[in-house]
Amino acid sequence: MGPWYLCAMPEIVVVDRSKPDPRAIARAVSVLLSGGLVAFPTETVYGLGALALDPNALSRIFAAKGRPSHHPLIAHVTGIAQAKTLIEPWSALADRLATTFWPGPLTLIGNRSGIVPSALTGGHASVAVRAPSHPVAIALIAAAGVPLAAPSANRYQAISPTSAAHVVAGLGNEVDLVLDGGSCTEGVESTVLDITGAAPRILRPGPLSLKTLQKVASTIVLADETADDDAMRASPGLDRRHYAPRATLVIAPNATVAVELAKQVLMRDEERVALMLWDHHPDAMAHVVRTMPSRAHEYARDLYATLHDLDALGVQIVIAQAVPDDSEWDAVRDRLARASADPSKVLS
Ligand code: TXA
Ligand code: MG
Repeated sequence: MGPWYLCAMPEIVVVDRSKPDPRAIARAVSVLLSGGLVAFPTETVYGLGALALDPNALSRIFAAKGRPSHHPLIAHVTGIAQAKTLIEPWSALADRLATTFWPGPLTLIGNRSGIVPSALTGGHASVAVRAPSHPVAIALIAAAGVPLAAPSANRYQAISPTSAAHVVAGLGNEVDLVLDGGSCTEGVESTVLDITGAAPRILRPGPLSLKTLQKVASTIVLADETADDDAMRASPGLDRRHYAPRATLVIAPNATVAVELAKQVLMRDEERVALMLWDHHPDAMAHVVRTMPSRAHEYARDLYATLHDLDALGVQIVIAQAVPDDSEWDAVRDRLARASADPSKVLS
């Protein structure tokens, strides 16, 4: 890569999130139809979109992200009718879940139909499908007329983007066009639910909690992460270190311990340290102190933006206060754990 002023920028098109201009959507669709990559907002995170049934377009996604080709992608659809063309058989359970939670942050893993290319599923027999609720995403998929594959629009193993600026900072001109529809309201990736087996299970906790999903199907469980079967292997999102910022993040059991750890790092006077607390602490001291929301939904919304910010500020160590144990915090707790390192790395 040359000096910054020689780096091409992707085309960035600002769209009104509640009423996307059809001309902006048409421009994005023309990029997609010519096999290009369009980053677009969803309610969870920004996706890196390409035609889901076109293996050549899909290979561009893997190249842009630096993602291994056996990691399956999610196909984004407008609703049940389109989902049925990808998942076969479409079960009564799939229908109940989709009717209740779509459009929204629920990804269903079902058996793939004959039209699904291997490149989309990483060679697996199952396929991931979701109907996002963001008006820009809905308009884009509808105008494309076909499902769109879209992983989170970040380099492999980096934090997912929750704004167009994050996409551009992370992928640069690897993406052809970015639809800028503002910040994502959920802030963490969709809940991934595997319904291929007898017992439906959550492979990735997300905005829709176990408790919420159980209202529709009481048999749903959290996947046993130690299980070694095809769905678990297909779900590299479960890799322990997967959503990592550049900084080393450690989790402290409570605010007092977090503040104490930050003090030790400050005394060493070698690294820039940040505190991420959701409780007020009178003695909080660090190069950067971030007070996070104390409610799960708002915390999730702000989590990646905060981590992106701290990286941009040159913070090297982030000490985060652990979040509560209840199920509505599952997604945030999961992402923090995957972003974190062994505390001994900081305290050695
Ligand atoms: O919220 C989201 O889901 C975002 C937005 C853009 O929709 N997308 C997203 O995609 O997070 P990605 O590719 O970063 O994560 C997809 C997750 C991975 O953990 C992947 O392993 C899992 O879904 N997955 C996809 N297909 C699967 C399959 N056939 N079996 C098991 N897991 C699968
Ligand atoms: Mg991802």
